[in-house]
Parts: sequence; C-alpha cells; structure tokens
Amino acid sequence: MTGTGDSVNVISFRDVYFGYPGNDDYTLKGVSFDIRAGSTEVILGGSGSGKSTILKLVLGLIKPNSGVIAVEGRDIGPLSEDDLMDVRADIGMVFQEGALFDSLSVSENVGFRLREHEGLPEKEFEERISRLLGFVGLSEFYDRSPSDLSGGQRRRVAVARAMAHHPELILYDEPTTGLDPITGSTICDLIVKLRDLEGVTSVVVTHQLRDAFQVAQSFVMLVDGEIEYHRVDDVELLYGTEFLVLNEGKLVFQGRQRDLFRSDEPYVHKFLEGQIPAFRR
Ligand SMILES: Nc1ncnc2c1ncn2[C@@H]1O[C@H](COP(=O)(O)OP(=O)(O)O)[C@@H](O)[C@H]1O
Ligand SMILES: [Mg+2]
Repeated sequence: MTGTGDSVNVISFRDVYFGYPGNDDYTLKGVSFDIRAGSTEVILGGSGSGKSTILKLVLGLIKPNSGVIAVEGRDIGPLSEDDLMDVRADIGMVFQEGALFDSLSVSENVGFRLREHEGLPEKEFEERISRLLGFVGLSEFYDRSPSDLSGGQRRRVAVARAMAHHPELILYDEPTTGLDPITGSTICDLIVKLRDLEGVTSVVVTHQLRDAFQVAQSFVMLVDGEIEYHRVDDVELLYGTEFLVLNEGKLVFQGRQRDLFRSDEPYVHKFLEGQIPAFRR
C-alpha cells in the first residue's frame, strides 16, 4: 500500500494547543502525531500530563484552542454536534471504572448501544451479544448482574460493550488500573486480539509499563481455527504497537518499543528508570 496522506491515519493531531478554561497554562502545547489504521498506540506519561485530555479531544468532547484534529480522515474542528455524534458512533470506549449499569444484566450492558441505535431483531441481538461475550471469555455470564462480577470481569464486559457496534477505533483510558497483574494481563490479551484478529485501531492510555510492553511484545494468530498467543522478547520483530510519551503537555517521544529503550530523551529515560530496575544507571 502506498498510502495517501491522511487516509491511512485513523487519528491525526497537528500542532494542537488546548487549555482548560480558568487554568493559567495550556494542558497540551503543540502536540502532533499520527495513528495508523490497525495499529495500537500506547500513550505513556505521568499523572496530569494530558493523556485523558487527548482522548476527550479525539471524541470531540472538548475543542482545541488551535491546531487540527482529524479522525478517520475528517477534520473534526468544524463539525456540528450531530456530525460529532456520527464520529463517536464509530469509536468504542473503555474507561477505568468500566462504567457498567448494575441495574441491567451483563448482556444488556454489552448491547446498550445496539438497543439504542440499531434496533436489531431479538434473535440477532442475542447472537451478537453471545459472540461478544465469547470473545472476552464470559459466555456464561449472559444473564447475570454486573454486581456478581470481579473487577477484571467487569472490565472485560466494558471491552465487549466497546466492541459491540464494530468500531474501527477503540479508546482505553487506564484499562488495567486497579486490577492485579494477572487480571490486567487478560485485558492486554484482549487488546492484542482485537488488533491482530479484528484489525481494530486502539489508543491505550496507561501508566503501567508492564502492560504496555505486554501489548507491544505479543501477537495472536488463528491456527486451524484455534487462537494462538505468542510472546516475543525480541522487540525488533513486531510493528503493531507504537508509543507516545507525554511530559507536561508536550510530546517527547513517538516510536516503537526498541526506540523507546534507545531514547536519550531525559524524561523518557527517567520514566523507564522509575519503573524498570534495569534502566537505573
Ligand atoms: N475538567 C478540567 N478542568 C480543569 N483542568 C483540568 C480538567 N481536566 C484535567 N485538567 C487538568 O489538565 C491536566 C491534564 O489532565 P489529564 O489529561 O486528565 O491528565 P492525565 O490523564 O495524563 O492524568 C492536569 O493538570 C489536570 O489537572
Ligand atoms: Mg487520565
């Protein structure tokens, strides 16, 4: 594929400045990046560095003071609220708390947007929800209440809900925060599965390097109809995942894991050093 500018980028930021009303300083200061279709972009950065703000801008929930944001090739700056709803309809979201409705069953939570927008016949609805729950490994929870589920299971329901309308893009805000490492890794496996089997583009905000590296170093493939997970230690091999590092509203790194490890950028080094003992000099 030769690529024709923005058409292969699902998200583009060009020199984006954004400040919250009432704050003295901009939260984002001239941020530019592109996210390729089918890739997973991990956004790293300390608390308050502007990671969640980037997701809110992608959704058009807030508007930049200057700069251009394009989602699926469309400059979203001039769009009306109705047109923004169309853009959002093509985006799945998974937030930290999972944000499930405890008054609805697991299946109704997963199918929430399908009920609202698509009016599927009941049988088709059930089949679709069953398939989604199978994908996240929770088939037996169809009729249960979210309050019966563990934290990790709730998060997986949130992933199934984000997938329900087949979005091309899924945004995750700290999807493993508050989960133990093993449960967190099941969420990472889902992100990888969506990338490698469904071609979904993902943006994953996290401050857990362990999870970011799990996503970057894993791939899955179907062999005779069975899903096989692979993990490689040689980070040169895989291309599906890229990293963005934000420091105080400025982008200080974009690239693959091997380049992250080789980066001399002081903040990047400090960030790695803080979480990986081997990086301490
Ligand atoms: N609604 C808001 N009003 C004012 N300031 C905000 C608001 N949301 C976030 N901020 C500020 O913007 C900065 C970036 O926030 P955020 O994007 O949430 O950071 P992160 O997700 O990286 O922790 C922080 O300094 C935060 O205090
Ligand atoms: Mg945040």
